[in-house]
Amino acid sequence: MFNPSKIVGLPVSRIDGPLKVSGTAPYAAEHYEPGMLHGAIVLSAIATGKIRNIDTSKAEAVPGVVKIYTHENRPSAAWWDSKWQDSVAPPGSPFRPLEKPHIQFDGQPVTLVIAETYEAARDAASLVTVEYKAETPETNLHTVYPNAYEPKKKRSGIQPPPKPRGEPEEAFAGAAYRISAEYVMEGEHHNPMELFATTVLWESDQQLTVHDKTQGSQASRDYICNIFGLDPDDVVVKNAYVGGAFGQGLRPKHQLFLAVMASLDLKRSVKVEMSRQEMFALTWRPSSLQTVSLAADADGMLQSVMHHAVQATSRYEDYQEVVVNWSGLAYKCDNAKLTYELAQVDMSTPGDMRAPGAATGVLALESAMDELATEIGMDPLDLRVKNFIHFDQNGDKQLTSKALHACYREGAEAFGWSERSAAPRSMRDGHDLVGWGMATGFWEAGMAPAEAKVRYAIDGKVTVSAAATDIGTGTYTILAQLGAEAFDVPIEAVHVAIADSTLPTTGVEGGSWTAASTGSAVQIAAEAVKATLLDMAQDMENSPLGKAKPEEVVIRDGRLVLDVNSQVGIALSDILASKQLSSVEEPGKAGPDMLQMRKFVSYTHSAVFVEVKIDEQLGVIRVTRVVSAIGAGRILNPKTARSQILGGIVMGIGMALHEESMIDHRTGRIMNHNLAEYHVPAHADISDLEVIFVDEHDDKASPIGVKGLGEIGIVGVAAAVANAIYHATGTRFRHFPITIDKIL
Ligand code: MOS
Repeated sequence: MFNPSKIVGLPVSRIDGPLKVSGTAPYAAEHYEPGMLHGAIVLSAIATGKIRNIDTSKAEAVPGVVKIYTHENRPSAAWWDSKWQDSVAPPGSPFRPLEKPHIQFDGQPVTLVIAETYEAARDAASLVTVEYKAETPETNLHTVYPNAYEPKKKRSGIQPPPKPRGEPEEAFAGAAYRISAEYVMEGEHHNPMELFATTVLWESDQQLTVHDKTQGSQASRDYICNIFGLDPDDVVVKNAYVGGAFGQGLRPKHQLFLAVMASLDLKRSVKVEMSRQEMFALTWRPSSLQTVSLAADADGMLQSVMHHAVQATSRYEDYQEVVVNWSGLAYKCDNAKLTYELAQVDMSTPGDMRAPGAATGVLALESAMDELATEIGMDPLDLRVKNFIHFDQNGDKQLTSKALHACYREGAEAFGWSERSAAPRSMRDGHDLVGWGMATGFWEAGMAPAEAKVRYAIDGKVTVSAAATDIGTGTYTILAQLGAEAFDVPIEAVHVAIADSTLPTTGVEGGSWTAASTGSAVQIAAEAVKATLLDMAQDMENSPLGKAKPEEVVIRDGRLVLDVNSQVGIALSDILASKQLSSVEEPGKAGPDMLQMRKFVSYTHSAVFVEVKIDEQLGVIRVTRVVSAIGAGRILNPKTARSQILGGIVMGIGMALHEESMIDHRTGRIMNHNLAEYHVPAHADISDLEVIFVDEHDDKASPIGVKGLGEIGIVGVAAAVANAIYHATGTRFRHFPITIDKIL
């Protein structure tokens, strides 16, 4: 049993863990109601062109089929006449399922079959025949590269590259050491275990309860209310448990639209779940081509940083990420030129995938830094330490904290970096070549506006509520810890009410900002409850708390006391009883501090050290050890925090070695749209992973000192793996993923 008075910061196990491992946590597709209808989606078999004809006659003959929707008979929805976009939409015109006969990407939903059973719906969907007039798709970034353009309208929340500073070209030309290289990254697909699914419980034409697989219940609610003209007070969206999301669940997905459309049309409850194949079609981490040029003087001080990136987007939306900006703030350099362009392909709009932009841009920068270290003949870690800067040169801003030196030091020590022999191909283990590589990681530490409510009841039970989501990150648990510590109650006495659109407003769970934002709102609400209890206590006759201020009293053992060691105080139950109350509840609100943001900016940092062993004959690369040292401010729960970083490392190994969207560019179709052919690291690919959280005190990043952890774990990992492969083999691989065929 943890001591509740200091439970924040302890490795508490997930409070939702038992429900999840016993299979009793209901996910979006696991809500049932008698008479519920089931949907199955037919996907387009071409990437570009037009539907000529859809023959549904055979499908309609399947017993149990209720209705089949196509672009020809779909009900009218308000959306089709408006310019409304979801909260995460990039500039452009969002895809609207069944709107028209035009096909814009492989796997586009073209028909929705609704039936009395899931089996009938699937069976009927397989009998729908679609006749197309196919056009020639262009899905190869290398081919469309010459048409790249700077996005005209910036995506909200995405900083465009800063203006060039200094004289980057001249500094490059005159420098003692120079490297310039091009890095290619193939597209990737998110594949959380849970498929996208929506269960709509129909109550009336106006009233719906919707269980949706999403990173934000309120984002899904706003989406369907805006499209179907419903009142946000009449629609409840819940996402109690989310089986992984990784950013794929930030934008509402087609199944939500289709399920609500069918439910309102048929006046029945409807469930629509995607297939794994559709998961691949609907969004992806965009493929990219990047050029990085770095120059250093004779001492290894950076003289010039130039980074150009072209990322794929769809034909209908200018999806954007922060890719090159990292290169302007990572190290001290007075001459920098950072440019970012998009090129359109005939695929669905890419989407945020864990550390969007940084995972891509830092891969190129940190590979290039390794190439520069080789060019200079300097240890790669020394080069980074030498060029360390505690300032953001992009925005001319102070950093709220940057414990990156500690990451380098503690990571290197745990890894044994000082034992590294510098020359490539100089370390062996039997037949295997051994390589040691490292990289730095960066991610932004931001906050989103968040509200919460905290209630303390006379029986000592605490309720913490906010619309926040737990996508497997530990939100339930850290909010319970904050509630327990604030009132000095065991964690079992805290009820965490989240994942419901009727609760206090928060943003989507993304951007690594939930703990900092909702966590702060909860703490602020808890302090407000304490202040209210103090007010009430001071109203009582002969109150021993006199004129004490809220910051002068603490809650211990169910009493409001003057200080931890003091007996002077009143039982909370007596305070509530004095007002004939059974509980007291207060709201709390947190969000970015605009005034502070003019001067300060906040990032998380990491130092990643990787060992690979490579069988030269077989080309098999094994990542045998990873040490990731993280500076992310205050760690609320080292157990759930560590899990976040472990997941990020595994995904980074996938980015380096496995994950690749394979597209047949003749047809524009994704060939490996299943988990058998789209490779992700399996257990056998993962060995020894060590996570270190360095001490980092930050009183500006957020009111509770938290910086966020969801994304930093992946950044830099793929570069560290690639750098280790170079150290092992003496060959530089710049095309990711680095698969066996490239090594041999
Ligand atoms: Mo994250 S890619 O903002 O879910």
